[in-house]
Amino acid sequence: MTRSAPGVIISGTGSYAPPRIVSNHDLSTQMNTSDEWISSRTGIRERRIAGDGEATASMGCEAGRLAMQDAGVKPSDIDLLVVPTLISDMLFPSAASLIQTRLNLRNVTSFDLSAACSGFIYGLEVVSNMMRSGNYKHALVIGSEKLSSILDWDDRSTSVLFGDGAGAAVLSKVDDTGCGIIDSYTGNDGSKAKLLCMPGGGTAMPATKESLENRDHFLKMNGPEVFKIAVRWMEQSAKIVLKRNNLKPEDIDLFIPHQANLRIIETLARIIKIPKEKFFVNLDRYGNTSAASIPIALDEARQKELIQTGDNVLMIAFGAGLTWGSTLIKWQ
Ligand code: UT7
Repeated sequence: MTRSAPGVIISGTGSYAPPRIVSNHDLSTQMNTSDEWISSRTGIRERRIAGDGEATASMGCEAGRLAMQDAGVKPSDIDLLVVPTLISDMLFPSAASLIQTRLNLRNVTSFDLSAACSGFIYGLEVVSNMMRSGNYKHALVIGSEKLSSILDWDDRSTSVLFGDGAGAAVLSKVDDTGCGIIDSYTGNDGSKAKLLCMPGGGTAMPATKESLENRDHFLKMNGPEVFKIAVRWMEQSAKIVLKRNNLKPEDIDLFIPHQANLRIIETLARIIKIPKEKFFVNLDRYGNTSAASIPIALDEARQKELIQTGDNVLMIAFGAGLTWGSTLIKWQ
């Protein structure tokens, strides 16, 4: 293991999914798609869609509250809050600002982190190192996404893939250096930015009548290209972290991959020669929730008691950027 004192563990997790379930069949009544196409090409059967009044910060608050409860910490114990998200309730201030006040986190450094679906992995990397080198004792990392607000419901090639939700983890500094977040690796290839982006609404293309008519304020994706690159970089980032920690894939007790497409996960399992049963999957019920995907999966894996003391857990992500990353955890 490459990293030393002090240790940083995930001391609690929580997740929130909006109650409204939208099945593939429901979508097939609104657009030219079918349950057969969506489930066979992606593994997704249903997704959650935020209701009126729900947004990035409100969902993030629910997940964050549960993670603090699970960790046994109070809002006053949290001194760092990082919110990986594609899009906050508004362009500024940050979702972290809105969550900070609603969760009554009075003494925190807080900011959003923009690394799309890899955001939670980036968040663990940034926060664990801030904790190792700084005075922070307990941090909250909350991946929260209301993707339904930026989906083009007239585009069947993207709208069926995504869902809303939030997942959170409390990170705590501990004396034991042999457990917790052991290592992580992150990367980005911005030359591929246009493969997955939302062109409108930023400084290059502020909202105009034309941008609205061109549907530029919705997510655009070249799915097949992203698929190929995703598999390559998920494999590479996993291998890099395994190699520098002298581990083989079979030493990992549970893989928690980004939940974008079951075929991506199955291809990854085949390439690294690990039975697919070792990969946690819940995308059938949530679709792709971007930065919330891995923390929701982590929380569910814990609720199902799939993670025990001493287990090696490898989380692997990719997303817009194009970004990617892996985090190795030895569960305490
Ligand atoms: O977190 C990062 C997010 N990125 C991703 O998750 C992207 C990864 N990519 C993928 O998951 C897959 O590439 C997709 C699921 C997006 C697409 O699967 P595919 O097997 O690569 O299909 P395709 O895009 O090549 O489309 C095949 C056909 C096309 O029809 P034709 O041209 O062959 O007649 C599409 O028009 O499927 C059609 N199609 C649909 N049909 C029914 C595309 N979307 C749909 C749909 N329902 N929803």
